[in-house]
Amino acid sequence: MRLGDLTTPALVVDAEALESNLAAMAARWPGETLRPHVKAHKTTALAARQAAHGATGFTCATIREVEGMAAAGLGADLLLANEVLDTRRLGALEDARVTVAVDSPETVEAAAAGGVREVLIDVNVGMPRCGCRPSDAGALADRARAAGLSVRGVMGYEGHLQAWPDPDERAKLTQTAMELLLAAHADVGGDVISGGGTGTSACNPWVTEMQAGSYALMDSAYTAAGVGYVQALHVLGTVVHVSAARPDMPAYAVADVGLKALGMDHGNPSVPGARVWFCSDEHVTFAADDPVRVGDRVLVIPAHVDPTVAYHDRMHVVRDEDVLDTWSVDLRGW
Ligand SMILES: Cc1ncc(COP(=O)(O)O)c(C=O)c1O
Repeated sequence: MRLGDLTTPALVVDAEALESNLAAMAARWPGETLRPHVKAHKTTALAARQAAHGATGFTCATIREVEGMAAAGLGADLLLANEVLDTRRLGALEDARVTVAVDSPETVEAAAAGGVREVLIDVNVGMPRCGCRPSDAGALADRARAAGLSVRGVMGYEGHLQAWPDPDERAKLTQTAMELLLAAHADVGGDVISGGGTGTSACNPWVTEMQAGSYALMDSAYTAAGVGYVQALHVLGTVVHVSAARPDMPAYAVADVGLKALGMDHGNPSVPGARVWFCSDEHVTFAADDPVRVGDRVLVIPAHVDPTVAYHDRMHVVRDEDVLDTWSVDLRGW
């Protein structure tokens, strides 16, 4: 199959760019020191490529992701890095090692009641999301152990720093965040200090395992933050309308990649060689530097990779105009 044969909008992954991102992160975080986050791609075939580059454990965001990874034979060491209260499906999983983040008495009790065996104490390191106070981590670990759970260590996600524009400041703030995590770890014990993401993967030497995810496919928000990985994912679209310049309106074109095909929480997508005006449900409207015609194909770069992928059933792996493979986005859903 050729690129031109694909029905649009379609996710396309540049095979060379993907492999170069996987190799670069694996060089920085080899073997079990990298625990790639599958929420960024939701695709077990891509996770298998990360395993081929040396990763043995993976980070998941949903129970569905844990189940799908286990079913794909990639369940040697799965971390559900989110709090869950209904853990029955996790406890029922066979042939997978599953560790769950807990940050409260309620989530500890839910893990024990559902048959989960191993947990990490999730510590808030500065982002107003989940995680206990660092000073509460030790007591929570005691409570988990008393409930029969094995506590492997701590996790703390410095999500608020991932796209911090100034890299020196990002590094300093990451250190401050990780000092909180290390203090909690001193009270909790265990072998694991888990955290990090694409944006801090070069400036967080404090974790024992790096949870980065977006680096594999990338997006324009991370590129703008200068994190050092290349854009591997595009949404292929077709130009469905062009409008010549009029006295009251400059020329523009419209392609079939709208906000239902793109995660828009980090802003508009970009189109190389064009200025994007706006997205509507099914359309992106843009002004191109060079003339475009109805039927032309365009490659749209999403501003946020994770929600973009989650809108699609499959991604096509391409080299130039050739479609080499089609991977199911099989971890979609909950
Ligand atoms: C808990 C956790 N760890 C790691 C990551 C990975 O971050 P990124 O995709 O930016 O590399 C995320 C992303 O939101 C996350 O929620």
